[in-house]
Amino acid sequence: MAELTAGPIRLRGFSDLDQVRLAELCNNKKIWDNVRDFLPSPYTEQNALEFIKSCQQQNPPVTFAIEYKGELAGCIGLVMQTDVYRLTAEIGYWIGEPFWGLGIATKAVGLLTEYGFDQLDLVRIFTGVFDFNRASQRVLEKSGFKLEGIFEKSICKNGKIGDEFRYAKLKPGLTDNRKTKIQNPK
Ligand SMILES: CC(C)(COP(=O)(O)OP(=O)(O)OC[C@H]1O[C@@H](n2cnc3c(N)ncnc32)[C@H](O)[C@@H]1OP(=O)(O)O)[C@@H](O)C(=O)NCCC(=O)NCCS
Repeated sequence: MAELTAGPIRLRGFSDLDQVRLAELCNNKKIWDNVRDFLPSPYTEQNALEFIKSCQQQNPPVTFAIEYKGELAGCIGLVMQTDVYRLTAEIGYWIGEPFWGLGIATKAVGLLTEYGFDQLDLVRIFTGVFDFNRASQRVLEKSGFKLEGIFEKSICKNGKIGDEFRYAKLKPGLTDNRKTKIQNPK
């Protein structure tokens, strides 16, 4: 299992031992309010166990526990796209509330995008952020993502219609796709 580190931050695979703390951290409406409804709410220890088991089956690993100073602090992952989008992945992450504002998400996004470009041969990593989520927009801006557009009225969260800010980062050095020979394009 790959491990990625930057100072006090470590991305590592999930272990069964994370189950209880993962459920405690993720069972937080303030997290759920900023992500897709797909995330269970309330988030139970059973949800945590099923999630951990699914992560442990990934090959290559694309979902990581975020550790801060040896403690589980959050989660980050890539969703590989398919068909003609197969060199692209969507990034998603959350940090447990006790760890907000410590620069953890920014470091974790940096580590995972580097892994995606260098180890998974991705050329593009993107994500969508709800209009009101300034903290996540800031994380992406600090991580070198570019705001590519605003999908107006594309989301419905907590009964309210809102816009989604779409951000992307390209693999450094790939400025002209058509002239770039991609190894193993499949
Ligand atoms: C968004 C989230 C990942 C940020 O994690 P974090 O580890 O606290 O982020 P960082 O400390 O690396 O950076 C946060 C930045 O946002 C800024 N910020 C925080 N709240 C803000 C707000 N309300 N308005 C503007 N900026 C804000 C911080 O000041 C910091 O920027 P700075 O370094 O320039 O001061 C975390 O709050 C979270 O998990 N939220 C719920 C789930 C979520 O939103 N996931 C992402 C879905 S796209």
